[in-house]
Amino acid sequence: MIDQPWRGFASDNYAGVHAAVLEAISRANVDHQAAYGDDVVTARARTMIKDLFGPAAEFYPVFNGTGANVVALQAMTARWQSVICSASAHIHADEGGAPESVAGTKLWTVPTSDGKLRPEDVQGQCFDMDFVHRAQPGAVSITQSSEMGTVYSPDEVSALADVAHRNSLALHMDGARLSNAAASLGVPIREFTTDAGVDAVSFGLTKNGAMLAEAVVVLEPARVHGIDFIRKTSMQLASKMRFLSAQFVGLLEEDLWLRSAAHANEMAKRLETGVREMPGVQISQSVQANAVFAILPSDVTAALQERFHFYTWDQVTGEVRWMCAWDTTAEDVEAFVAAIGEEIAARA
Ligand SMILES: Cc1ncc(COP(=O)(O)O)c(C=O)c1O
Repeated sequence: MIDQPWRGFASDNYAGVHAAVLEAISRANVDHQAAYGDDVVTARARTMIKDLFGPAAEFYPVFNGTGANVVALQAMTARWQSVICSASAHIHADEGGAPESVAGTKLWTVPTSDGKLRPEDVQGQCFDMDFVHRAQPGAVSITQSSEMGTVYSPDEVSALADVAHRNSLALHMDGARLSNAAASLGVPIREFTTDAGVDAVSFGLTKNGAMLAEAVVVLEPARVHGIDFIRKTSMQLASKMRFLSAQFVGLLEEDLWLRSAAHANEMAKRLETGVREMPGVQISQSVQANAVFAILPSDVTAALQERFHFYTWDQVTGEVRWMCAWDTTAEDVEAFVAAIGEEIAARA
């Protein structure tokens, strides 16, 4: 079916599905099971999620990351409320307006240099509270690891939770790459989620070897309302849920999720090390997870894009994004580093 396989650095979603996930789906494919989540595979995944996030964590599998965010934000805000996020947040920049059109929420965006919100950014948006003409902030959304490949420390998340809660806002974490953050920080997930005061997480494994496995994990039910119903009305309730849940089981077993994310992060570091000293290459973000951001001469970028898939992040500055995935190999990185060197040398 695929007769010309190729490798690239465009997105961790370009990678395939880990064999352990396919195998877990296959193991779940036995006889009949109750639909809509009342099955033994979902029960097993639920237990594993509680092991990661704490005993009070509630697990709501959905089909995709945008769905997880849209469901979570609806459940965390009232009809008239809004969400504070960074200007580079996926919910703002890459979800086609779904939070606005499906969740019906306005986003208050704050420009950031590294994709990370600071407590003062949140506090700065908490004005005109109770003023009927302003869409009232009801939640803060942060991304871990961020769209710029940076990572919040547990203390940074705690400080954001404090400022959010002081202003009666809920704290949402978009964790499409939560695994990469966990691998980068080297601490249990609950230290920078549950214990740090996060109220709900969109926990994604699709980028980390699943086929389609995302979930809203509710950590503080007092700040998340009606999610069972919202998931259904948002068309994110899977009837054959056991096959979504099986993907969580396949990756959470034996810490495959963490090993895979650690590997992707290591490949990003390797790539950064390989290009850091090259003339004309400027690493533009701290490499803390599985993304490398760099500014290159535009003719080098154009020539490289003929050879490898990757995205130009900022057309104005010439910043590009290189993503490593769970299946990126050291040989992939070496071939790419060599190609970058060749294209630079050809124009020197
Ligand atoms: C930060 C972030 N959040 C969420 C998502 C999930 O998006 P999707 O709806 O494509 O699964 C992505 C995927 O690119 C992402 O990078």
